[in-house]
Amino acid sequence: LKRELILAFETSCDETSVAVVENGEKILANVVATQIKSHKRFGGVVPEVASRHHIEQITLCLQDALAEAAVTYEELDAVAVTYGPGLVGALLVGVAAAKAVAFAHNLPLIPVNHMAGHIYAARFVTPLEFPAMALLVSGGHTELVYLPEPNRYEIVGETRDDAAGEAYDKIGRVLGLSYPAGKEIDALAHAGKDSFKFPRAMLHEENYDFSFSGLKSAFINTVHHAQQVGEELNKNDLAASFQQSVIDVLVAKTIRALHAFPVKQLILAGGVAANRGLRQALAQRLTRLDEVEFVKAPLTLCGDNAAMIGAAGYVAWKNDVRAQLDLNAEPSLEF
Ligand code: KG4
Ligand code: ZN
Repeated sequence: LKRELILAFETSCDETSVAVVENGEKILANVVATQIKSHKRFGGVVPEVASRHHIEQITLCLQDALAEAAVTYEELDAVAVTYGPGLVGALLVGVAAAKAVAFAHNLPLIPVNHMAGHIYAARFVTPLEFPAMALLVSGGHTELVYLPEPNRYEIVGETRDDAAGEAYDKIGRVLGLSYPAGKEIDALAHAGKDSFKFPRAMLHEENYDFSFSGLKSAFINTVHHAQQVGEELNKNDLAASFQQSVIDVLVAKTIRALHAFPVKQLILAGGVAANRGLRQALAQRLTRLDEVEFVKAPLTLCGDNAAMIGAAGYVAWKNDVRAQLDLNAEPSLEF
């Protein structure tokens, strides 16, 4: 097999990342510069701050990635870039950098949907087999995506309000945790029990959609009420109760989708896919549907990174997806 090298850029939110990926399956370099520290004091990502950081970091990340991969521009075969969804000013930095390299070195430019990238993070664990179903859970998205074949994505269900990660981050603020709070709530949850029995929205509705804003409100009301009456609530139990509610709904809707869409693999991806409780709960339920292989993105690749964009970009490239130099950022890009 010829060695085909893709240079990939990811700047949709608060990580600047550049990667070199071989044949869509092997990471030669995956440089990630995170800005989380700069956003923490604001309790969330500040778009203007994100753009400025990307501008400062992008060239350094590019140089580091090429050096680490020991690859020259002449050896590259294509340039892939996230062009949406995400923050427009942040996306534009990656898009401009990718265009510059593609133009200067006469390379094809491959536009990649950030969420397709999350799905393809699993490609570094095992080859994807089709048809497949992906449960995509991140800070901005919660959706079930059906993949009938490579490079085709069909949304089967999605959140009607908050994304799962967004709910984690918002209740984290109420618990006094710093942004992003998902990982810490996951850890607290493991030391607690589901004693509050928060609502499981849309659990029994015959669709594949989610809703997390009711859970978020129930959680906040419980904490505020306790504060008013001077009652001390157990943080671990609060976290465990919140997390169990999220997991119950995600697992139930995923299993429902797997019954309606026979697939070879279930792919768990996105930042919230790093959640220990969710990984365990899905693995347990899937042993009963053992014709479906449960594929999880590696923990280190669940968050935003350019390697996953290189993997998704490789498949898009092989399917003749191309962008011209007028490629623009699409903040609300959908599948
Ligand atoms: O995919 P991602 O890195 O960025 C987006 O594209 O949104 O996802 C970030 C989200 C944050 O909301 C963060 O709190 C959440 O993923 N997250 C977790 C865990 N690790 C990160 N949520 C629950 N459990 C975790 N272990
Ligand atoms: Zn993401």
